Amino acid sequence: VNSCVVDKVPDEVAIQIFSYLNPQDLGRCAQVSHRWNRLALDTSLWRNFLPIQWSKGVWSFTPMVDIEVEEQSLLENKDECVAIYYDEDADIDESEEDDDTKRIKKPMLQFKIKMETSMLMSMMKYLLPKVGYGVKTINLAFSQGLVNGLLYKMLSLCPLVENLDLTHTRVSDLGFKSLGRNGCGGNLKRVDLAGCKNITDVTLERLSQALRSKPEIRQEDCDDNNHEEKNEIELNEKGDKSSKDSDCHVTCRQNIKEQTVHEDCKISFTNDIEDHSPRMSESLANQKGRSVDLTLTTTPTLKVGYITEESPRLTLNTGNISSFGQRTSLCCPKNCCFDTASVKHFDQHSKNMNFKCLTDINEWTKICAVKHGHESEIICDNLECGLEYLSLSGCSHITDKGIRALVIDQQTFPSLQFLDLSGCDKVTSLALTDLVSVCTSLDHQFLYYCDNVTADPYSDSASGCQNLECPTRACCRTGC
Ligand code: FES
Repeated sequence: VNSCVVDKVPDEVAIQIFSYLNPQDLGRCAQVSHRWNRLALDTSLWRNFLPIQWSKGVWSFTPMVDIEVEEQSLLENKDECVAIYYDEDADIDESEEDDDTKRIKKPMLQFKIKMETSMLMSMMKYLLPKVGYGVKTINLAFSQGLVNGLLYKMLSLCPLVENLDLTHTRVSDLGFKSLGRNGCGGNLKRVDLAGCKNITDVTLERLSQALRSKPEIRQEDCDDNNHEEKNEIELNEKGDKSSKDSDCHVTCRQNIKEQTVHEDCKISFTNDIEDHSPRMSESLANQKGRSVDLTLTTTPTLKVGYITEESPRLTLNTGNISSFGQRTSLCCPKNCCFDTASVKHFDQHSKNMNFKCLTDINEWTKICAVKHGHESEIICDNLECGLEYLSLSGCSHITDKGIRALVIDQQTFPSLQFLDLSGCDKVTSLALTDLVSVCTSLDHQFLYYCDNVTADPYSDSASGCQNLECPTRACCRTGC
């Protein structure tokens, strides 16, 4: 029997080999065997989801959209640009869809849009359900085939997405309906909605809800009999009390089916006082049954334990939950227990469970254990959102209401470094001030808004409207 080198190496090595492949090749590998399918669809290989360039034959995980070319194409096809709506049985009311659907005039354009939409639908059906939790970047810029139903499903399947680029798409508020649900969108750092002229304040309200995702304790879910036997979430009394004291919540999302849970999966939350020192020990565990103890810092302590027959036991002790800064989760090599949400400070190497130190626990906010739709999260009440980039350029329907929805309860945006409200000519200086005042890191040279704002609060420091010479995005001076 012929066998290739991949069949003889451990999973982590095989995945490393697969990491050199492009998405098309990975798709082909996934059809070879069950093992290859599992390896090729490892979530660590699918960080970037770029279906628009893939539909053009650019099979790369590196974004290669040429904005100038795409904008020129957008201009040329402005009159012929059409909308093709597919009924995807998304749980949304499509009766509210905008009625800009027009008849296709150019067969080539029609073919292109169909190809794009077809690929999006196929990936939605076959790919994202398997790799969605690993996706960090979704780039759908200049997509002409994207419709609200597709976006809705995409966001639902990729709840840990950090970078969302929907530049010049015709999505509207309905497409963002999944934001904020089950923590979807809570990790967003970069949101580019430039040229999305159909969105309104409702989208910003949903975005705001997503950024402050705050799961509630649902202990009844954890006590579910169907869940107890195979997936155990333990929250001892002491831990529960202390968690409340520190304004932290533990959520066990119990939308899973019993059979989807790994039979040996075990997650436990405790609140033991074990270590007050700001340190963490680095441990490796390469042997079956061996424990890994990562002690981070002060109380309350969180333990996440994971046991399978084939992988070692992992116990993670963390502390000072209220000071956590970013969402993080753990990853099982076979995608059967945990999924990695952030590798910035937390690295792992597949089967050996080779966990490395977190270098800055203060940036660690959340531990999220994900398994086939099951999540267990810890999140703080005073969570500050990690949004770094927000572009609403050309979103002319945005008003003060939407802007203020972002700053409910004076939630700060300590990481926001870019804010583009060019073309949002309905936003007044009052709402603008409310938002900018909570963006503590925002350098005003990266702040853009309408030049015609009355009582302009940042006239000396901000950069003004960027759409004055842009033919594709709204601006009150050009009438575009
Ligand atoms: Fe007012 Fe551009 S939107 S100057």
